[in-house]
Amino acid sequence: MTHYDFDRVSIRTGTYSYKWDQSEKLFGHKDVLPLWVADMDFEPPKEVVEEVVRRAQLGVYGYTIRPPEYFEAVSGWMKRRHGWDIRHEWLSSSTPGVVPAISVIVQAFTQPGDKVILQSPVYYPFYEVIRMNGRTIVDNPLTLRNGRFEMDFELLERQAADGAKLLLLCTPHNPGGRVWSRDELVRAGEICLRHGVLIVADEIHHDLVFRGHRHVPFASIRDDFAQHSFTLVAPSKTFNLAGLQSALAIVPNDELRRRYNTAVKTLSLHMEPYFGIPALISSYTHGDEWLEQLIDYLEGNVQFLLDFVKERLPEVQVVRPEATYLVWMDCSAISREPADLKKLMFEEARVAFSEGSVFGGQAAGFLRVNVACPRATLAEALGRFANAVRARKPV
Ligand SMILES: Cc1ncc(COP(=O)(O)O)c(C=O)c1O
Repeated sequence: MTHYDFDRVSIRTGTYSYKWDQSEKLFGHKDVLPLWVADMDFEPPKEVVEEVVRRAQLGVYGYTIRPPEYFEAVSGWMKRRHGWDIRHEWLSSSTPGVVPAISVIVQAFTQPGDKVILQSPVYYPFYEVIRMNGRTIVDNPLTLRNGRFEMDFELLERQAADGAKLLLLCTPHNPGGRVWSRDELVRAGEICLRHGVLIVADEIHHDLVFRGHRHVPFASIRDDFAQHSFTLVAPSKTFNLAGLQSALAIVPNDELRRRYNTAVKTLSLHMEPYFGIPALISSYTHGDEWLEQLIDYLEGNVQFLLDFVKERLPEVQVVRPEATYLVWMDCSAISREPADLKKLMFEEARVAFSEGSVFGGQAAGFLRVNVACPRATLAEALGRFANAVRARKPV
């Protein structure tokens, strides 16, 4: 069995990295350590790297198809990891990402001005795809109760009854870290079905679930849920392949799928990425053991952060994630001002976590830390942050 060394530090500066090559532009200083955007500082499984290298060496990079192995790899993965039997024909046109797929669905299944529900605090492109397509955001805020986010079903029922057309369901939830239980999903699903609201289940974080929790694919729960939903996943978060741009839409309903595929084609988003297809096949075929080791490592990083905060930053409240490598922290005892928290991070500490207010709702005073990095990097980032906080206010 291969042992993967997630402690190994890869140098990513100078690789056109969105995360590592933008500190000066975004935060004003080259030496700001980036733990913000959700990609990992880890190499994918060695089989995936070998496959990409092999494809690179072929030396001709033409238009690409999804071969039968693609459908086998995806359905095998969904069955093995999530207990969900999907039929090959449910796999709709692929898109370069999950967010483009959400935008396509918003365009194809709603009209300008229509109401689309999201649950704040949430991954900020959800707001953008609704707003930039000229639709209306309806916020169904999550409630933080005893360190854990919960849905407000009463409000959801009223909002669904008030003519909303879509629910953007983030499951597992970013940045809240929740793995929604079957019961919660059933309640949300029944509300939507009662009022004719279609569900977009963004399940991109489905594989990154910590021990003791189990992700339930929304559409796998009941056939009527499957018939009224779109499930969006990708190997990008799980295997750190975001730059290879290959996302999946699973749409069991024939009519929804036909309209979805037409909308993707209208935008000509459907062509397949040369490296993305083989990387997806390889990761869904060979990635199980790597993923088990990754989850252990990430869980270790979450625990490291919890211990660190308890000792050095006792005024910070951490929301322990059940899934994802993103940790949501209430830093309002340090400052409630987004601009001040940015100054603290970028100027004083020289570290970049994500500032919370962009996730909407009551998120000012929160920060989101991406712990998908070698533990030494996490320790360095937390140390810089704690030193800056203590320089302002010793305990
Ligand atoms: C909930 C969620 N959806 C989608 C994405 C990204 O999707 P893509 O890069 O495939 O468009 C992310 C990345 O952080 C995410 O957290």
